[in-house]
Amino acid sequence: MKTISDIKSARNTVQNWKKDGYTIGLVPTMGFLHDGHASLIEKAVKENDKVVVSIFVNPIQFAPNEDFDKYPRDLQKDSDLCKKLGADLIFAPTANEMYPSKIYTKVDVQSLGDNLCGAKRQGHFSGVCTVVSKLFNIIKPDKAYFGQKDAQQLAIVKKMVEDLNFDIEIVPCKIIREPSGLAMSSRNAYLTDLQKNSALIISKSLNEALKSLKFGEQNVGKIKNIIEQKIKSEPLAKIDYIEIVDLQSLEPVTKIQNDILVAVAVFIGKTRLIDNFVFKMERE
Ligand code: PAF
Repeated sequence: MKTISDIKSARNTVQNWKKDGYTIGLVPTMGFLHDGHASLIEKAVKENDKVVVSIFVNPIQFAPNEDFDKYPRDLQKDSDLCKKLGADLIFAPTANEMYPSKIYTKVDVQSLGDNLCGAKRQGHFSGVCTVVSKLFNIIKPDKAYFGQKDAQQLAIVKKMVEDLNFDIEIVPCKIIREPSGLAMSSRNAYLTDLQKNSALIISKSLNEALKSLKFGEQNVGKIKNIIEQKIKSEPLAKIDYIEIVDLQSLEPVTKIQNDILVAVAVFIGKTRLIDNFVFKMERE
């Protein structure tokens, strides 16, 4: 497995693979890889001849008040894991390589980024779409792998690929949880043991909401209330948002008629964690 930090060499490597007829899978990440990323890489290894894992903490998707500087980084550990999982190339550019001069072009998927995390993190999804487009243009993968934990990101990237005719299949991958139920996230590294324990309230609250949906509850307010009350029972947790939105449009719903996404963002101390589930309506 190679690690490359410049765009030209990454391009050459992938172009040579393509000349040899290999299919390419890309797993875009910001590093500090955990089992969630590992599941994406494993899937990519199964489904493609060559797998590229990009590791880049993308400055333009962080607002000035966010955690760009302290975002956890460990390239050596990441590279050991990628090698073990059978990836072929790590593309780990510097910020200067990706953004050598002021950029005038940004990719913005309208409206899908207006609520949920988009409403709380100004400019975040434009930063994500811009870097993902750049990675797609550099690596030109056949397939790219994204986790369902970032459900809004996944929906936005899918729409961007459709709207801009990227010839790439977006492969969604399910949320990977710790045995406790906590959704895997690089940001879990910020949590103390006590906070980690408090964070369990997030998946517990979603489980209760799912249970009530399965029992036939259709009142959006009541479902949100179940989540809210549960999270509020944990003193260290502070709700950022609880949203129930249409799975396609990501617009808030008042009635549960179509497939929905139930998504939350919760601060545990200063750490903002997100989690969600999809509820599919049974159709005759
Ligand atoms: O999900 C992430 O880690 C990032 O948003 C991504 C897709 C790698 C873009 O920087």
